[in-house]
Order: sequence, then C-alpha cells, then structure tokens
Amino acid sequence: MNNKILVTGGAGYIGSHTCVALHQAGYDIVVYDNLSNSSYEAVNRVSALIGQPIEFIEGDIRNAGLLREVFDKHRFFGVIHFAGLKAVGESVARPLIYYDNNVSGTINLLNVMEEYSVSNLIFSSSATVYGDPETLPINETSPRSCTNPYGQSKLTVEHILGDLAVSNDKWNLITLRYFNPVGAHPSGQIGEDPNDIPNNLMPYISQVAAGKLTKLSIFGNDYSTVDGTGVRDFIHVTDLAQGHVAALSYLKKQSSPVGFLPVNLGTGKGTSVLELVSAFIETTKQSIPYKFAARREGDIASCYASADKAKKLFGWKAKLSITDMCQDTWRWQSMNPNGYKSISEYKI
Ligand code: NAD
Ligand code: UFG
Repeated sequence: MNNKILVTGGAGYIGSHTCVALHQAGYDIVVYDNLSNSSYEAVNRVSALIGQPIEFIEGDIRNAGLLREVFDKHRFFGVIHFAGLKAVGESVARPLIYYDNNVSGTINLLNVMEEYSVSNLIFSSSATVYGDPETLPINETSPRSCTNPYGQSKLTVEHILGDLAVSNDKWNLITLRYFNPVGAHPSGQIGEDPNDIPNNLMPYISQVAAGKLTKLSIFGNDYSTVDGTGVRDFIHVTDLAQGHVAALSYLKKQSSPVGFLPVNLGTGKGTSVLELVSAFIETTKQSIPYKFAARREGDIASCYASADKAKKLFGWKAKLSITDMCQDTWRWQSMNPNGYKSISEYKI
C-alpha cells in the first residue's frame, strides 16, 4: 500500500500539526515549503516530536522543475496542499502576489500531479468562501462569495478543482473548508508563530496575556449576537490535523473517484469573542486587558459550521473544547515567548 504523502506548506501552522498526525497514522511524509511564512525550526520540532527526521525540500509550488524532481524521486499516494498566503489585509494591498501564489501555484502543482498520474489532492480551503452567510450553521451547499483577494483566490481554486473533476473522472479533489483554527500541539513544541503583530484573535489574546501587547481591541460590540461581539467556530488545530488523516482514510476506502468534494472542518459550535476572552482568562489565570473598538472592515457577525458531512463521510468529529484550545495556546506561548526564535531544548 502506497502511504507516501507530499505535504506542501508542511512547515506552516496547520501543516506542521498535520505532519505529526500523518506520521502517527502510519504515513510517510515529504514536506515541500518555501519557508516564506514559516521557519525550518518547525520542521526540526516535528522531527523531534515524531522521533525521526522528516524529508524536507525548500521549494516554491510555482517551481515546476523542482516539483518534477520531487515527483521523480518519490511515488506519492497524494498531496495535501497547505502552501499559500493567508493574510486578508495583505491580499488587498498585494493582490497579484496572492493570486500568483495561491492560484498559479496550485495550477502548477496540479499540472505536475497530472504529469505523474497522482490524482489524490486534499486542498486547504476556508470558511471565507461562504462570505456573509444567509443561514447558520453553514453547510457545504451554502452559497459562496468573497470580498477580498485572499478569499477570491481560495474560491477560484475551488472553481478550478470543480472544473478539473468534470473534465476527467479520475480526480479525487477533497476541499477542506476550515473554520477558525486555534491552539497548539499539547507538547508546546509546535504552534502558530505569526510575523509581527497578529491579525487573528487567539494569537493576539495570548500575546496580551504574555505582556508582549498591552491591550486587546475587540472589533465591534453591536453585532446581533449573544453579547454583541463576533461569533466564530474555533477549532483546535490538532482536531483539524486529524480531519486530514480522516479524509485520507476515506479516500483510501473509495472504489470509484470522488471528484470535487468540499467538506467543512469545524466544531459546529459558535463562540463569541468575549466568550473566548473569558475562557482564556479562566483557563490560564492571566489577565487580558481589552477595550471595545469599531467593527473591523470586512468582518461578519457570525460564522459556524455544520460539521455533519465530515462526520458522515469521514467519521470525523472535533473532540477538543475551548478550554483545551486556550490551555494549549498558552502552553505554546509560555514555552516559546518568541515563537520559533525561542531556543528549544527539544532534540531528536
Ligand atoms: P501558514 O502560513 O502557517 O502555512 C502556509 C505555509 O505555506 C507556510 O509554511 C509558507 O511558508 C508556505 N508557502 C506559502 N507560499 C508558498 C509557496 N508559493 N510555495 C511553497 N510554500 C509556500 O498558514 P496555515 O495557517 O498553516 O494555513 C495553511 C493553509 O490553510 C493555507 O492555504 C491557508 O490559506 C489555509 N487556511 C488557514 C486558515 C487559518 O486561519 N490559519 C483558515 C482557513 C484556511
Ligand atoms: N477580533 C478582535 N480583535 C482582534 C482580532 C480579531 O476582536 O484583535 C475579532 C474579529 O473581529 C472577529 C473574531 O475576532 O470577530 C475572529 O477574528 P480572526 O481574525 O481571528 O478570524 P476571522 O474569522 O476574521 O478570519 C479567520 C482567518 C481567515 C479565514 C477565516 C475562516 O483569518 O483567513 O478565519 O476560516 F478565512
């Protein structure tokens, strides 16, 4: 049985956690990442966690020549494709870079996969493709629309995958739409390591708790939600990682191709910004000074998944609680005050 998986973007936040889960599930992994938003230290830490070095290639998904070398060397069962840029604000300022990395990069990867007859892909999509949802919870048939280049790049790739599946029924193109990934590996060895000041809520909270930032601004307290603050479906990154393993197991069991298959990965439960802040304070006993600020442009009031399809098809369900998410985020933050620039005692 071929258990070899190419993990593009495997040095990143979700990719590194997924590498650990894949190894534990018996897969051989090859990581391909240009380290544009990650550090080689993450790869070292994953190697230490799994107790053996993982094969790493520093490369760009837009480099077809290098991808061919990798496909010449390895016979892959499939590709888990995390590589891409993900900052919404930056995508508005630099749209071409986003379309080039996320759309052209994916087309390039698909071309090489086709050349080498590798037809199994798991693609990192996002709940952002649902825009401002008309109904909640959001299921996979909900209408899709996007308002920023990052979201548009994900939606465009989804359309490309859909067209590819129609063009030839050999393809298995599972598109996982992640809700809001947070948390870190329970060892405290790998986690989210944002450059500069974090845009996302959980890393911002943890840096306030650590005293690196003085105060959290809560963007909007006048939404029509439980307490006026935004509601999101926060999912522990290790649950998300297991979702990829479950998707692969599902693929391995199929006797005929699945085509383009979108599946939400969320918990199905909405938590407000204030509820998350309170849970973090309660769990970690740290103080989080905050103030209410204006709504952030482009934000929506509420977003949470129907997680039924993942349960039905993959037998997967998120298990970890908001308390686990806060605890593991704080462990990672405390053990690595400067992210991967912190010195780790941890060695293979
Ligand atoms: P991340 O930035 O930590 O990881 C992405 C990795 O891809 C990084 O290691 C980066 O160096 C690499 N990369 C970027 N462009 C590349 C290129 N052209 N060639 C090779 N490598 C490249 O981000 P993440 O949070 O782990 O997200 C992984 C995927 O999931 C991304 O596609 C992202 O858009 C998607 N996603 C993330 C979230 C989230 O909130 N974290 C939510 C929904 C979807
Ligand atoms: N928020 C604050 N203060 C902050 C940061 C965030 O109040 O300093 C609020 C936001 O206004 C929002 C909630 O916290 O109500 C969540 O915000 P995040 O930035 O953490 O996450 P988003 O839901 O805006 O977006 C994230 C990713 C997107 C992805 C989306 C769905 O950044 O790329 O989840 O997966 F598309």
